[in-house]
Amino acid sequence: MLTGKRIILGITGSIAAYKAAEIVRRLRSLNAEVWVVMTRGGTEFITPLTLQTLSGHTVYTETFALQEGSKITHINLIKDADLFLIAPATANIIGKFAAGIGDDLLTTMALAARCPVIIAPAMDSDMYDNPILQNNIAQLKETGCRFIETEEGELASGLVGKGRLANIEVIISTVIDLLVVKKDMAGEVVLVTAGPTREYLDPVRFISNRSSGKMGYAIAASAKERGAEVILISGPTTLQKPAKSEGIELINVVTASEMREEALKNLKRATIVIMAAAVSDYRPVDISPGKIKKSGGNVSLDLTETPDILTEIGMDKGNRIVVGFAAETENLESNAMLKLKRKNLDIIVANDVLDPDAGFEVDTNVVTIIDKNNEVTPLPRMSKKEVSYRILDKIAKIANLKRTYSRA
Ligand code: C5P
Repeated sequence: MLTGKRIILGITGSIAAYKAAEIVRRLRSLNAEVWVVMTRGGTEFITPLTLQTLSGHTVYTETFALQEGSKITHINLIKDADLFLIAPATANIIGKFAAGIGDDLLTTMALAARCPVIIAPAMDSDMYDNPILQNNIAQLKETGCRFIETEEGELASGLVGKGRLANIEVIISTVIDLLVVKKDMAGEVVLVTAGPTREYLDPVRFISNRSSGKMGYAIAASAKERGAEVILISGPTTLQKPAKSEGIELINVVTASEMREEALKNLKRATIVIMAAAVSDYRPVDISPGKIKKSGGNVSLDLTETPDILTEIGMDKGNRIVVGFAAETENLESNAMLKLKRKNLDIIVANDVLDPDAGFEVDTNVVTIIDKNNEVTPLPRMSKKEVSYRILDKIAKIANLKRTYSRA
């Protein structure tokens, strides 16, 4: 399953370091290539020789050890890695990483890593509960690091509490989740709407909004990657159209009523509906056939509500999973929850459009995913691609989709 994947395993000075041997063994049994990097503390708990034997590669412990001629090891190793997994990670290493300190090979590599980083902490429960450590974890999560929650249980200190290294199977499945494209959407037909709509007042002027379509396009691409048949109904955007070879069926529309017509027409085929479009809520009552002339003084526009496509779909959704978006500027969670109920949705994705890292035009988003069981999942700032994955994960969970993976 992990054939061709290059994983760097960082081992630090925790009693749980002995479990790293099993992590290496499990990763290698899935055909991953594993390189081990250890802090000096780590080598006190498990010998580099053990890990070298299990990984089949030299174990690195010193910052400036030169390998393969004059290339510096940490740059070499980390540049081609698919994943940097730190397990077990001590409070010390988490603190250094959060503070941007690189004073040995492992921390230097962590700072140089462009690949995803997964951190599995292990420490005494009092250390784990320390707000300084929790702040460091929160800060690293903000930058995109993934953490694997510690387990509760008996600790080496004799205390019982949180802080045990997560179960090895949990660590391995987190790695698989991140590195292997899931095919859990195979057999599903996903209908996605994206972008703004335009409501014309005359042949050259229209009412619209700042939506770029990036979120909806990312969802469509991710659903396709995960094996779904995808229908993408798009308002006018400047985004690159998905290539025919990508297998996404693109339907271009301009107005809310065209979007409604296409959505309802294609609804019969869909098993999952994700309405990411920023549909205009109002349109001019009359569209002037000619360009409206300047006549001096104020002009009033008579607007009428557009049809709420999502409400219509929600009312007649059958077994479909229906997902809506809520772009809010205040009371994000409560407004989104109300919308979820009112529109009979399974999931609502709420974002605060006043946050400069979230919402319109930008490549990142900061969203909270809320489901019909009132489970609220706030996500840190991440790329829209990553957000699309989290939304699909949530759908898969609610729909009870079988978790399958593509062959590596
Ligand atoms: O009620 P509000 O416009 O905030 O709801 C946002 C959600 O409803 C989005 O998922 C959007 O795509 C959808 N919507 C719709 N038809 C409209 C307005 C919004 O389907 N006319």
